[in-house]
Amino acid sequence: MGEQLAYQHILTWTKGKVGIVQLNRPKVLNALNRIIMDEIMSALEYFDASGEVGCIVITGNERAFAAGADIGEMVSATPVTMLKSSFVDYWDRLQGIAKPVVAAVSGYALGGGCELALACDMVIASDSARFGQPEINIGVIPGAGGTQRLARTIGKALTMEMVLNGRQLTAKEALQYGLVNRIVPTEGYLEEAVAFAAEIAGRAPIALRLAKEAINVAFETTLQAGIAHERRLFYLLFASEDQKEGMDAFVNKRPAEWQDK
Ligand code: CAA
Repeated sequence: MGEQLAYQHILTWTKGKVGIVQLNRPKVLNALNRIIMDEIMSALEYFDASGEVGCIVITGNERAFAAGADIGEMVSATPVTMLKSSFVDYWDRLQGIAKPVVAAVSGYALGGGCELALACDMVIASDSARFGQPEINIGVIPGAGGTQRLARTIGKALTMEMVLNGRQLTAKEALQYGLVNRIVPTEGYLEEAVAFAAEIAGRAPIALRLAKEAINVAFETTLQAGIAHERRLFYLLFASEDQKEGMDAFVNKRPAEWQDK
């Protein structure tokens, strides 16, 4: 891997074509302060721009993915300081990442931590994962997209319960309600998530990013406009060398070799 920035609160490395970002503030259960959010987004943008990386994994540790925004930093905040800090805008920056992003969640994914997982494209949960929006217990509501993304993901009734009454979902419940893709044993959960990401990273890169774009449009627009958008992206792929390669490989019964062109 090429030159990387030195980080204070995260670790980054690559395994094959997977870029891994690990939150590393274990003493405070990976509470999300400004520095760690800044570092997470910088690392994601670095991997997004890297020709070596096809898919990105964000993770914490076995006990905590992230227990939410750093409450200590918010105790004496005012609306004006919150507005000027643009702290919650960090979560929006995830929308600008073109490559697939997988959250590998073990232990607590609470508040801003749950919202971080929700802002990723897919979630692999360890069997000890817990998803929750406990902000109501500290007198606020989710501020990094939780009410919106949860409602779109698991529906109104359960979102109401989670946000209004602090209900946490177990990994099994999260799978049942469509918040996560699969559950894996806590021991070795990260290796499983990286293997999941590696499979995706091996696929045609341009098709991957356009597929992600098309699916995300479904959450922002009407069905008709979304289908029209999908069609344009579908046609656009016929300008790629990888479309020729993929179809030629199929016809000639050989494995495709993607060029990212
Ligand atoms: N911010 C700052 N510090 C936190 C934290 C947070 N969100 N979550 C945990 N910590 C710290 C604790 O203060 C504690 O530090 P000390 O050892 O210095 O006391 C350390 O992490 C370990 O935590 P606990 O001793 O509390 O561990 P526990 O096992 O008894 O409980 C827990 C675990 C249930 C997750 C509990 O820590 C907890 O409730 N954390 C807060 C969860 C929360 O409310 N998250 C929402 C934050 S607001 C938000 O995220 C807004 C938004 O939408 C962006």
